[in-house]
Order: sequence, then structure tokens, then C-alpha cells
Amino acid sequence: MTPTQEEQVHQEKKTVAVLGAGTMGSGIATVMARAGHRTFLYDVSEDNLKRGVASVHGFFDKSVSLGKLTGEAGEAAKGALVATTRLADLAACDVVVEAVFEDLGLKKQLWGELDEIVPDTTLFHTNTSTLSVTGIASGSRLPERVVGTHYCNPAPLMKLVEVADGRHTADWAHKATVEFLSSLGKTSVSTKDRPGFIVNRFLIPWENDCIRALEAGAGTVESIDAAVPGALGHPMGPFRLLDIVGMDIHQQVATRLYEQLRDPRFFPPPMVGRMVSAGDLGRKTGRGFYTYDDTRLFGS
Ligand SMILES: NC(=O)c1ccc[n+]([C@@H]2O[C@H](COP(=O)([O-])OP(=O)(O)OC[C@H]3O[C@@H](n4cnc5c(N)ncnc54)[C@H](O)[C@@H]3O)[C@@H](O)[C@H]2O)c1
Repeated sequence: MTPTQEEQVHQEKKTVAVLGAGTMGSGIATVMARAGHRTFLYDVSEDNLKRGVASVHGFFDKSVSLGKLTGEAGEAAKGALVATTRLADLAACDVVVEAVFEDLGLKKQLWGELDEIVPDTTLFHTNTSTLSVTGIASGSRLPERVVGTHYCNPAPLMKLVEVADGRHTADWAHKATVEFLSSLGKTSVSTKDRPGFIVNRFLIPWENDCIRALEAGAGTVESIDAAVPGALGHPMGPFRLLDIVGMDIHQQVATRLYEQLRDPRFFPPPMVGRMVSAGDLGRKTGRGFYTYDDTRLFGS
């Protein structure tokens, strides 16, 4: 049985950090703060940090208005979040979750810098979608503490997290990771350090197929979004989901997986490139397949 939001607030408190305040980082920070952990949200961009914090706060305000959290618990969760642009502020963290740009050099560099700041017992989690966990772990002098934790988007709502060990991940780090995720109310599935893990091997070709169906005129954005979840039991349609994921991220993930797997089903259809060139990235830019007044990253 997974804990309710209220029960999570009373569990053992840790100090955690999330690196990157974008779509995934702010979603993961929401999960951590909701569980009562003191949560540092770190980004190099002040603007992205502000938007990330607004997204987290917006999610808790909505949870209170829907009666999913008491007003007191909502305020406590907001109070647990600390925004920072200083890596040195993360010195007391028990767990660090990395959700910065999908760039191997950047991810490795952050682990190397954090090695000098946090205790040797701190767990390093990476939310990479397409890079090798082993490769990212090589940035740390202690690769045994690095574990891949691939959250589904939107992270505060989706229960599944894929857990992928690198070649040098220690058993203690894997076990502590699974226990930690369980305490957050997440269901973890262990997978291998392979391109796309489990979920993106299916999700990316499926999203591409839906875009191809749209390009072929098989249906409209609205009709495909109505038909596909209705038929397959998904919580939302492919275009609503892509607007949350971000077309830039979809393009990057699909291209990287194509490059590694050489399977044409992963190659992004031409519409993806046109939308990215036009800046129609989805919710984060206010326009994707749909238009949005509220550019907070998730939750409303
Ligand atoms: N979007 C998705 O659906 C999704 C799902 C699962 C995993 N992921 C993975 O999660 C990671 C983040 O993706 P996203 O969609 O949140 O990206 P995003 O572009 O929305 O956010 C990335 C954030 O990282 C910040 N950043 C860049 N360099 C930094 C640095 N040196 N230090 C701190 N912050 C830095 C940026 O300012 C930005 O706010 C990627 O590895 C991606 O592959 C994405």
C-alpha cells in the first residue's frame, strides 16, 4: 500500500536536492516536498528557478483547493522548498536528483563538483532519458553511489519510476534508492542501463505514430486525443502529453534513441522539427498542439 499525501508528510525527513528546475526537476521537487523532505531546487537560471517554484506552489495550491491536502499540509509542503542558484547550499543533502539538460558532459561535471560538497554517503540519482547511467556515473569519484531514476512525466501524478543501475552501482545504493522511492509513494521497476530503459522503447514510437497519424490526416489533434486514451485506457491523449513533455525534449529523446537503436520508429516525424523551429514547444511556451494561458509546467 502506498502512503497518502498526508501520511508521507509524517515520514522520516531527509534533506534532498533536485538539480534543474525545468519540467521534470520542478515535478520531482514537488514529490519530495510533498513527502515532507527539506527540498533544495537548484538551477543556474534565475528565471527557470522562479518558474519552477511557481509550478510547485501552484500544484500545492491546487491540491488544497481540490481537498487532496489540508491548507496546513499545503503550506508545510511549500515551506519545505528552498530555491537556490548556489551548489554549495546542497552540502547537507542525503539524496541529490539530477534533472538538468540531457547533456553528458554537464551531468558528469555536476557529479564531480558535488563530490567535493556532499558527504560520501549521499545518493546521486540521475533522471536521464537517453544517456548511459554508467557514463554519467563516471563523472563521480564514487560511481557506486549513482543510480538512474527515470520518473514519468508529470512526476507528481505518475507513480512509476524506472530504476537503472550503472555498471558500478553498489547494491546498497540500489536498495536505498528503491526504499526511498517507495517512501515517496512511487512504484519502482528495475531495468538495465540500456537506451530508453523500458518505457521510452514503447512510448516514443507510439508518440511518433500519433504525430504521423495527424500528419496523414487520419484525425485532428482533438479526435486523436479522444480516441487513443479511450481505446487504450491511457490517462491522457498523446498531444496533451507531448505538450507537457515539450516538443524540444521529444525531438531530442527520439533522435538520441534513433541514433543508438537505429530503428526508424524512433525517428521524429517532420512536424516535430517544424514545431520546434516555430517555438511551439507546448505548455512551457504557451503553445504546442494546444494553446495555454498558464505556462506553469504542470499541475493545473
Ligand atoms: N520532459 C520529459 O518528459 C522527461 C521525462 C523523463 C526524463 N526527462 C529527462 O529529465 C531531464 C530534464 O528534462 P526537462 O524536460 O526537465 O528539461 P528542461 O529543459 O525543462 O529543464 C532543464 C533545466 O536544467 C537547467 N540547467 C541547465 N544547466 C544547468 C546546470 N549546470 N545546473 C543546474 N541547472 C541547469 C535549465 O536551466 C533548465 O531549467 C533530462 O535529462 C531529460 O532527458 C525528461
